[in-house]
Amino acid sequence: MAKVDFTGVQSTMLVTLFLRAADSKESRPILGDRFAADAVERIDFDWRKIDKPAIMRNRFAVALRSRQFDEWAADFLSRHPDATVLQLACGLDTRAFRLDLPGTVRWFDLDLPDVIALRRKLYADGERYRMIAASVTDPGALDEIPDDKPVLVIAEGLLMYLREDEVCQLLRRITDRFPGGELIFDGVMPWIARTTQVLKKYFSRWFYDYPAYWTPMRDGRDVERWNPRIRFRDEAAIMARYDQVPDPGVRRLYRFGVRFAGFRNYLRVFRAEF
Ligand SMILES: C[S@@+](CC[C@H](N)C(=O)[O-])C[C@H]1O[C@@H](n2cnc3c(N)ncnc32)[C@H](O)[C@@H]1O
Repeated sequence: MAKVDFTGVQSTMLVTLFLRAADSKESRPILGDRFAADAVERIDFDWRKIDKPAIMRNRFAVALRSRQFDEWAADFLSRHPDATVLQLACGLDTRAFRLDLPGTVRWFDLDLPDVIALRRKLYADGERYRMIAASVTDPGALDEIPDDKPVLVIAEGLLMYLREDEVCQLLRRITDRFPGGELIFDGVMPWIARTTQVLKKYFSRWFYDYPAYWTPMRDGRDVERWNPRIRFRDEAAIMARYDQVPDPGVRRLYRFGVRFAGFRNYLRVFRAEF
């Protein structure tokens, strides 16, 4: 058993992991990530901190988001089977194992050192799979990633935790280093970010020290404003995939809510190229 005692932004990946594990136990799962359920079993953490109705009801949105990332990643790799994949802020996500990867793909999972230390207790590097312990704000974080192939950069649940200037610096390092490729990332609406900033102190009292979101996305063009070498291509509203939600009450809520832009767009996945 791997013992964990994270606080701050690192702890957020325990939430997404636990929610993906919960999805995998549904009779009709959205993502069906059996690796997540297995990882939860192998980590010594007081999961009761997360196993609360207010957190658990997000499992559908988290699974829908991961599924959208999986689909767009698979689409990129079908067009570029020799690509390099750089997954930033991987947490304990197992996309590299979930997807049916072409044998020519090289995959790099990057997160903060204590998260990677935990990850190494569960998974091992392989010939075409490597973990990197670094902060995305570190100017040298991408130095080990080969730059000879098209790159797919995945950032699920990351950019909102960074300050906008950190996002701009990260995007500049990506477009400076790699010859071209795609970025898949997600963003929350500005009202959501403001709400987390205001409610942060209550969150920590009710649940635990959940960090606030600092960089929201108004729309996909934000990424072009952050870096003019990047072109926005596509966006997918997570709530609009309500037909996949197994819980009838939540499905009805999402179906009703998507009529309102503030709800529909509260969590979106974006795809951009450079
Ligand atoms: C919400 S979790 C998402 C994890 C994973 N992508 C998933 O979907 O389960 C946020 C992750 O961002 C990572 N993170 C936050 N700031 C980071 C930074 N500056 N550099 C690298 N990783 C960071 C955290 O350690 C955490 O694993």
